[in-house]
Amino acid sequence: RPDDGLRPKRLDDYIGQDELKQVLGIAVQAALGRGDALDHVLLYGPPGLGKTTMALVLAEELGVTCRITSAPALERPRDIVGLLVNVQPRDLLFIDEIHRLNRVSEELLYPAMEDRRLDLTVGKGSTARTRSLELPPFTLVGATTKAGSLSSPLRDRFGLIQRLEFYGQEDLEAIVSRTADLLGVSLSAGACRRIAGCCRGTPRIANRLLRRVRDVACVQGRQNQIDEGLVSQALSLHRVDHRGLDAGDRRLLAQLDQHHDGGPVGLETLAAALGEDPTTLESVVEPFLLQQGLLVRTPRGRMLTEAARAHLREQEVA
Ligand code: ADE
Repeated sequence: RPDDGLRPKRLDDYIGQDELKQVLGIAVQAALGRGDALDHVLLYGPPGLGKTTMALVLAEELGVTCRITSAPALERPRDIVGLLVNVQPRDLLFIDEIHRLNRVSEELLYPAMEDRRLDLTVGKGSTARTRSLELPPFTLVGATTKAGSLSSPLRDRFGLIQRLEFYGQEDLEAIVSRTADLLGVSLSAGACRRIAGCCRGTPRIANRLLRRVRDVACVQGRQNQIDEGLVSQALSLHRVDHRGLDAGDRRLLAQLDQHHDGGPVGLETLAAALGEDPTTLESVVEPFLLQQGLLVRTPRGRMLTEAARAHLREQEVA
């Protein structure tokens, strides 16, 4: 991952998500006090808000190893068995996109999470037997963009269930400023404000935009004098508008406006018209548009809001 050197290492360095930090900070302190593993944690929310980072921070705070994997890498039952038999006492296992675990893998996790027991099937057919293997105490940290797609038996086995929120302007400015320091670039206050204002409340996007701004600064020989004007150049180069919408977001809004009379239109129809995967549309593209009040979900489908129409008109003029 390109952001690895930029990730905060400790809770104190992690900017924003105050409630999440408070809840997890107390849980960590209590677990350390008892010498026990931290309870299983489910982190959910839109991509790029710091779920993986938080798992790494938790491991650091607990002084344990974090093993990172994602559900698509755990396709065969033996993948999850391999992961669990290698776990050391109080280790943290991070499973990204946990809503995509298949049934068999998920069912191996239930007793592992609940009773620290791994139920293995040995042999085949009529001679098959189950063997139980005792596991050390460990912490599963699951992350998902779609908490609603998690089966309830799985969801119920997490002791802590926390949502990550989009970041506010002030936190984003602090994050951009921190990243700029780490990248060794010097930003004016206006430049920092501008990047924070168009990153869709998402640190991953803020850091990505900052890199693109740095590229433009670099070719102009202005690495150490990045101002608002330079940020604007980089943003228009990448077709990011002042609200942070990219070409894909505007395409969705324009589709609704021009071909469906503002809606309502079903997710599947919209996705097909845009040549997008419905799940991606729903969990990656839509959350920010919904949060911004540019889109609403109704029982009969997606609808454009007046704010979105105004935004589209503004973009045409610009
Ligand atoms: N970089 C990306 N997200 C961050 C956060 N929440 N705190 C500090 N640095 C970050």
